[in-house]
Amino acid sequence: MDPAMFGLRLALVFAVLVHFSLLPTSYSLSSQDLQIVNAERRIDLTSHITRVILTLKVENTGTSPASEILLAFPPSEVDHIALLQAAVVVGKKKKKSYLPLDVKPTEVSEAPNETKFFSVSLLNPLSAGESVTLEVPYVFTHSLEPFPLEISQSEPQLVYYHDSAIILSPYHIKKQTTVIKTPSAKVESFSKVEPTDRAGTELKYGPYEDRSPYSFSPIIVHFENNNPFAVVEELVREVEISHWGSLQITEHYKLVHAGARHKGVFSRVEYQSRPSLSGVSSFKHLIARLPPRVHSVYYRDDIGNISSSHLRKDSRKSDLEIEPRYPLFGGWKATFVIGYGLPLQDFLFESSDGRRYLNFSFGCPLAETVVDKLTIKVVLPEGSKKPFAVVPFPVEQQRLETSYSYLDVVGRTVVVLEKKNVVPEHNSPFQVYYEFNPIFMLAEPLIEKEGIVKVA
Ligand SMILES: *[C@@H]1O[C@H](CO)[C@@H](O)[C@H](O)[C@H]1NC(C)=O
Ligand SMILES: *[C@@H]1O[C@H](CO)[C@@H](O)[C@H](O)[C@H]1NC(C)=O
Ligand SMILES: *[C@@H]1O[C@H](CO)[C@@H](O)[C@H](O)[C@H]1NC(C)=O
Repeated sequence: MDPAMFGLRLALVFAVLVHFSLLPTSYSLSSQDLQIVNAERRIDLTSHITRVILTLKVENTGTSPASEILLAFPPSEVDHIALLQAAVVVGKKKKKSYLPLDVKPTEVSEAPNETKFFSVSLLNPLSAGESVTLEVPYVFTHSLEPFPLEISQSEPQLVYYHDSAIILSPYHIKKQTTVIKTPSAKVESFSKVEPTDRAGTELKYGPYEDRSPYSFSPIIVHFENNNPFAVVEELVREVEISHWGSLQITEHYKLVHAGARHKGVFSRVEYQSRPSLSGVSSFKHLIARLPPRVHSVYYRDDIGNISSSHLRKDSRKSDLEIEPRYPLFGGWKATFVIGYGLPLQDFLFESSDGRRYLNFSFGCPLAETVVDKLTIKVVLPEGSKKPFAVVPFPVEQQRLETSYSYLDVVGRTVVVLEKKNVVPEHNSPFQVYYEFNPIFMLAEPLIEKEGIVKVA
């Protein structure tokens, strides 16, 4: 087989059906005659990943229809947003349903204090005098700041959360309330912007009435949070499709405990004898949720295979409990690799136009983990053409590479996807489509027989 014959590498076409406006459209506020009749914000600080649900009832007080609604964020928060969605709420109480809306970053001229904006496009323009209710869930990472910065093995972990008691908005807000949920009632201190109430694990700011656009009132909450601050600084997931029946996954992790740094020496004796008091913010093991029917699972670090992993399988999922060689304390790192095989027929399909496609989960299989930088490499079978990826949210980079294994003649096309700031909400299916000519299936056994090692 002559590799040049196919000229594959030259003919590759790569299209990603994801469009995210990187060039924001500029927006002028003067055209806006909107006000927020009621705003409710629920901030969940029970994990190290911050989750917020903002509910806004928006009224058009102007004379012409409005088709966009702006959401405002301080510049320091924008960089930490991992996910931002919006939906319009239709129906009431038990008959409520949510219709997703398009959200994109936008710019507003003359915005005070470098406020950053997202624009939500309504499905139908909001007529003068009408109102609409939006629900806006969003997720922040790295927004809890350990204080003290260093703790000893016997101390709990305390963190700061900074925000504004008043919701930042370019619109007048008639009435608003913010509720902050902490992991426990152990709250050291919190700012008061009257009325402020605390009951158990909830802190309530407001209701506040008639706040003008861009009102802001900084608050700090200092509280105990001993949840594992599990951050994967870098994760590379290789997904190799072999038309011989299996999908081989190899995942390279650089994990760090991103909480308060460990101070002093680590005592394993103390750790093991007083687990409820010693190293409460450390973590001993993590759960990787893998698909059902997983096989040939291994878990290794720089030293070698680690046998202390446990796999529990049922018909819907497989939970792999992985235990590093030592518990992870603040600032400590662990580098390891997880590998597993999956039946191809669970993930590879044929579309109606004859293309093949992989349908696999994006994100990271480790529970409640932030991935600072994720790279997914999908290695297509030899002879694949015109690949493209479909991802349900923006990804920073997509490119093609060629990889050679010793059996390959022309090399395999690798679709590479990169995304920063990945959270569990990103664990949704994505697809890689490609064309495939079955003649290539002959290549591998032929080469094996003739003992040709590599043509590159
Ligand atoms: C801008 O920030 C400054 C300093 O934080 C603050 O005093 C001022 O009120 C802010 N202006 C607006 C319009 O929010
Ligand atoms: C580790 O486990 C894998 C899969 O079980 C096996 O192929 C490999 O040889 C093992 N490596 C070592 C160093 O034991
Ligand atoms: C991909 O798989 C999910 C289930 O994991 C399914 O809901 C979805 O419809 C599939 N997508 C395509 C394009 O086949």
